[in-house]
Amino acid sequence: MNAGKFGGLRVVSFESRLAKTLSDLITLHGGVPITAPSLKEVPLENNVAAFDFGRLLLKGDVDMLLLLTGVGTRALLNVLETRHPRETVLEAMKRTKIVPRGPKPVRVLNELGVPFACTVPEPNTWKELLDTLDRHARDLPLERRVVAVQEYGVTNPELIEGLEKRKARVLRVPVYRWALPDDTGPLEAAIGRIMDREVDAALFTTGVQVEHVFRVAKRLNAEEPLREAFGRMVIGSVGPDTTAALKAFGLDADVEPSSPKMGPLVAETAEKALLVLKRKNPRDCSVEVRESVLGLMAAEDALRDGVFMKACRREAVPYTPVWLMRQAGRYMKEYRDIREKVPFLDICKNPDLVAEITVTAQERLGTDAAILFADILLLVEPFGLDLAYLKGDGPSIKRAVRASADVDRLPEPDPADGLAYVFRAVRKTRAALKHGVPLLGFAGAPFTLASYMVQGGSSKDFELTKKFMYGDDGRWKAFLEKIARATVKYLNGQIDAGVQAVQLFDSWAGVLEPSEYAEYALPYSRAVIDGVRAGVPVIHFGTGTAGFLDLFAKAGGQVIGVDHRLPLDEAWRRVGHDKAIQGNLDPLVLCSSENIENHARMILDHAGGRPGHIFNLGHGVLPETPVENAVALVEAVHRLSHR
Ligand code: CP3
Repeated sequence: MNAGKFGGLRVVSFESRLAKTLSDLITLHGGVPITAPSLKEVPLENNVAAFDFGRLLLKGDVDMLLLLTGVGTRALLNVLETRHPRETVLEAMKRTKIVPRGPKPVRVLNELGVPFACTVPEPNTWKELLDTLDRHARDLPLERRVVAVQEYGVTNPELIEGLEKRKARVLRVPVYRWALPDDTGPLEAAIGRIMDREVDAALFTTGVQVEHVFRVAKRLNAEEPLREAFGRMVIGSVGPDTTAALKAFGLDADVEPSSPKMGPLVAETAEKALLVLKRKNPRDCSVEVRESVLGLMAAEDALRDGVFMKACRREAVPYTPVWLMRQAGRYMKEYRDIREKVPFLDICKNPDLVAEITVTAQERLGTDAAILFADILLLVEPFGLDLAYLKGDGPSIKRAVRASADVDRLPEPDPADGLAYVFRAVRKTRAALKHGVPLLGFAGAPFTLASYMVQGGSSKDFELTKKFMYGDDGRWKAFLEKIARATVKYLNGQIDAGVQAVQLFDSWAGVLEPSEYAEYALPYSRAVIDGVRAGVPVIHFGTGTAGFLDLFAKAGGQVIGVDHRLPLDEAWRRVGHDKAIQGNLDPLVLCSSENIENHARMILDHAGGRPGHIFNLGHGVLPETPVENAVALVEAVHRLSHR
């Protein structure tokens, strides 16, 4: 669904019976509805004035009948038909001299087969009508004749006066099928707000509404200011008859929808509202403010409805979205140039550099998502551990966690303090990314992060970690729960700062046996995923998970990230087709320019065009990867998957 184009404009509707429907439509299109019912249906049998006229007409006591409107002519006939046979009424009309004021009553008379004495030239006002009667004075004498005037909605004092001056005995026949509502309070209030410039748009769904609004305005002595106020607003008219009624009151419809129904009326008025307001109020800066709000809403729409986000929700997409883990990194010259001058951790703590590196990588590769340039290990600093990245040796964490006492000493960090620079970087990066490109945040899964905190760096066998894990004094549970709590806050902080989805990296989950994963890792990953703000997709990624992929998927995440050690179709079967899947090209394939396309095709074949596939590598881009190969992969995935 589109965010409403009204963008918070205040929209008055004068509809009565379907007031609720119309007001819901206004809300749906982002407007603030103001409901001012302007009419009530009058049962035909209550139309006393019309019956009195009918009796005289049938007796032959009416000399002339002036028909002012088409709708009124039809309504008059309908009323009379409740008392007299239609034929009798038509015969009586044929015996009477009839003057229709304009083309609409002419059309009705033609349909009924009732002849008329003459027509009135345009613009068909009371003036032309009186002139015409004067010209035909011989055939259509007025003096001492009973002249019935069919009135509809509004009376026409000049006409009545003119007829009386010519000594006619005027019989006013007000035919209503609609009257003002019993309580005109809301309508009066709405008119007041319109004149106070508190309303931006008005929707009319019948001409009667126009007449009634002006009838009430007349009572309030406010016709002119109301007309002026409407002139500054957006006027939506459901169709040509309503537009004609607006014209009769000196107003133009700005929008008349392609089909005369309420849905298109609201949608198309919403679509054009700001443009019209801008044209009518060139110096009103609130229009510009609205415009920028709408711009933001459109950007949100574009983000939500892009291929990557759709794939996270397993919705159909025109082509398979692709991004690469570690897409910003040492394999990219632009990154190495910066890295030569600035240490890695300093880059992470500099929001401008983070934004630059993140955006450069996304634009250079043309991926469907950007991943924030940061690191899973940043979270260890707020835990009070010293983090360093040593050239060639990878990360190093001093004061590693080795004993129960170490766990007890760990604080409950608040990422809003220790990692505020990450949130600033998210804001910078979000603002710098192209329209519609989603930004991914991320964190390490508790098990992977814990293993770094225990080992003090990278490891092959994770011996210390496993020893720590097997300890039966509850320290592992306390440790991982602490990490999980901090990670939830960290991810939600990234979301609040502007990321569209998050990935949880469990890079080392594969060193565990299935039963170990279930006991020592899964509960904490689940706690993190469950704690992520609702509605934000979580990509749950792990490597070496083939032995317990079903368990891994059960820990949570709308999208499961898989490595290249299992064909994607098999992986998806194990994950369950009710989840989206991300993966899974062997990163090594990108080190050579050959076969990239074949490998990409094979993975797309495994995905079988099923909605919910996000193309990625099985693990991060390797530092020796030529950038052109990564670019070629993204292009190939888009081309080969185009539906
Ligand atoms: O482009 C991106 O994917 C975003 C940035 C990102 C980095 N690290 C930047 C980085 C991401 C998502 C990570 C995640 C990360 N960090 C993981 C999980 C993903 C995986 O690969 O399994 C892990 C295990 C880490 C920990 C880490 N950070 C290690 C082991 C190392 C050293 C080895 C290596 O891969 O470079 C780092 C440093 C690091 N993180 C670098 C970058 C660009 C290299 C720093 C440098 O320039 O010297």
